[in-house]
Amino acid sequence: MRLDSPQINLIIKACMKASRALIRDFGEIEKLQVSTKGPGDFVTSADRRTEKILIEELQKAHPDYGIISEEAGLINKSNINNRWIVDPIDGTMNFMNGIPQFAISVGYEEENEIKCGVIFNPIMNEMFCAEKGNGAFLNNSRIRVSNKKKIKDSLIVTGGPKSMSKIKGKIFSEYINVSKNVSNVRKFGSAALDMAYVACGRFDGYWQRELNYWDIAAGIIILKEAGGFVDFFEQDDSSPLKRNILATNSNIHNELKELIK
Ligand code: IPD
Ligand code: CA
Ligand code: CA
Repeated sequence: MRLDSPQINLIIKACMKASRALIRDFGEIEKLQVSTKGPGDFVTSADRRTEKILIEELQKAHPDYGIISEEAGLINKSNINNRWIVDPIDGTMNFMNGIPQFAISVGYEEENEIKCGVIFNPIMNEMFCAEKGNGAFLNNSRIRVSNKKKIKDSLIVTGGPKSMSKIKGKIFSEYINVSKNVSNVRKFGSAALDMAYVACGRFDGYWQRELNYWDIAAGIIILKEAGGFVDFFEQDDSSPLKRNILATNSNIHNELKELIK
């Protein structure tokens, strides 16, 4: 792999370390699913444990860097020049049900621009990484988006609505409209992996409303470096960490955008 910034190396090291505990925790889930207590509290602590390892590793090298992390919130808030964006487990619902479709997602940004990122599914042993200007990789192989040109032939992925969403109706009608005009639609339950899968050509496009920035920060650079196109729509400027995303192989971008208008 030809990714060599100190930041990407640090993220990879932190992900590898955190993944060892996460793999062990995933192994426990099966037992908990059949117990009367269920896996609920255990999942929360697995999330926290993974986050703690990631943050400790990242802070060891750069105690001054800012961090936005799903569970811990904002750390070193005033440093926006160098900032890690962390989602310790993206795809918690899958994790909780013993489905190996979840990932650690860590991005790094400088002055609000994502410079590099890693999405790591430790169960499948698939590590997606990218660095600005140096391409995107899955383990040691270079990845590229698909070459699909027509929306009607495309396999699209989406997610949501969340159970608390106030715009469920809108999201469902969008889903119907897209479904009628593409080859098929999937819903896999990990925004980070959805982005990574578009980056390596498994899906041709992805859209989703009401995401948080940590769900997609690493995915943004991975997809761009793989030749894809990322766009945000109906951005609410009062909630900068909330995003509605449209991410594609670029060929089908405008057509998919038309379908979700
Ligand atoms: C969730 C996943 C899911 C998406 C949700 C996210 P979490 O993240 O990315 O695919 O539909 O909107 O909140 O809670 O598993 O980290
Ligand atoms: Ca999470
Ligand atoms: Ca998430």
